[in-house]
Amino acid sequence: MCGMKLWVAGMWLVSAVTAEGDVPGLSLRELAASRGTRIGAAVNADALATDADYRTVLAREFNVLTAENAMKWAVLRPSRDRFDFEQADAIVAFAEAHGMAVRGHTLVWHNALPEWLIRGNYTREQLMDLLREHIQTVVGRYRGRVFAWDVVNEAVMKRGALRDTFWLRGIGPEYIDLAFQWAHEADPDALLFYNDFVAEGGGRRSKTLYRFLEERLGRGVPIHGVGLQMHLSIDNLPRKRCVVAAIRRFESLGLHVHITELDVRLRTPASGTALERQAQVYASAAEVLRDCASCTDLVMWGVDDGHSWIPHFVDGWGDALLFDAQYRPKPAYHAVQKVLGR
Ligand code: XIL
Repeated sequence: MCGMKLWVAGMWLVSAVTAEGDVPGLSLRELAASRGTRIGAAVNADALATDADYRTVLAREFNVLTAENAMKWAVLRPSRDRFDFEQADAIVAFAEAHGMAVRGHTLVWHNALPEWLIRGNYTREQLMDLLREHIQTVVGRYRGRVFAWDVVNEAVMKRGALRDTFWLRGIGPEYIDLAFQWAHEADPDALLFYNDFVAEGGGRRSKTLYRFLEERLGRGVPIHGVGLQMHLSIDNLPRKRCVVAAIRRFESLGLHVHITELDVRLRTPASGTALERQAQVYASAAEVLRDCASCTDLVMWGVDDGHSWIPHFVDGWGDALLFDAQYRPKPAYHAVQKVLGR
């Protein structure tokens, strides 16, 4: 059975957390790159601008970046006739300066939409024009620099029904196909992803997404990959063999698979035991990156526990990332390092 159950790798000794900033051994990016893969993090634009330690860890450990919020409509579109690329440009420039790839996130989502758009009372034609203009402008600006885009994010509900969103209500179900087509026109070389949550467990939802993607691929929609978010809770984990089976199914459609938003939340304050268990979950994710040919990218949803979205969204939970709030590597870091080094 593949539902949300235990996902724990084989036990092994995890080396102790070292003194602040001192990370022995090869960095995660060196290890990932030596296997032809990428390991990354979602970037907090404020921390990138203001915190030198944050920048140091980011550049040292990762070879792919995602903008945590900076490429969402709410940030890019302060008004109908203005684009603000300041944060997004800073992230792309940082990535380029440090030899990192960039995943673009996200062109069509039901959240992080500006008020002027939501309250605009636009007609269907106007909304299609707005979405096309947005995609052409944003994808066009980063053409050749953003190698993969999460074009549509979280659009599918149970049993394949489309989520009732601003875009579905305003344009109709064809907004999804159109978004991929427009993105493909704007950068024919970019890999275009459909990104969603709880698709990784191999259960009913991953089959629903499989059918959703299969149907669109069948009618020629330019979808090249599926993003598995993987916001995991230590109390509700998918089995590793189910994750691998789900990835293989997506792979059989000819799709790339990226793990796009991994975090593993713990109840806070986290015990030593919880941190060790979390390390095993991260180790399993690293094994997937190492062993599944179609899965080339593993991106964590943040760098450190001090900048994680979890405490703001899930009360009483946190400590979900590889580094603590002082940028010290956690057991999870060492576990990933160990798997990728094997
Ligand atoms: C989250 C960010 O981490 C938060 O800072 C923001 O306030 C809300 O969005 N799925 C996604 C991401 O695809 O874009 C979300 O990011 C987390 C869930």
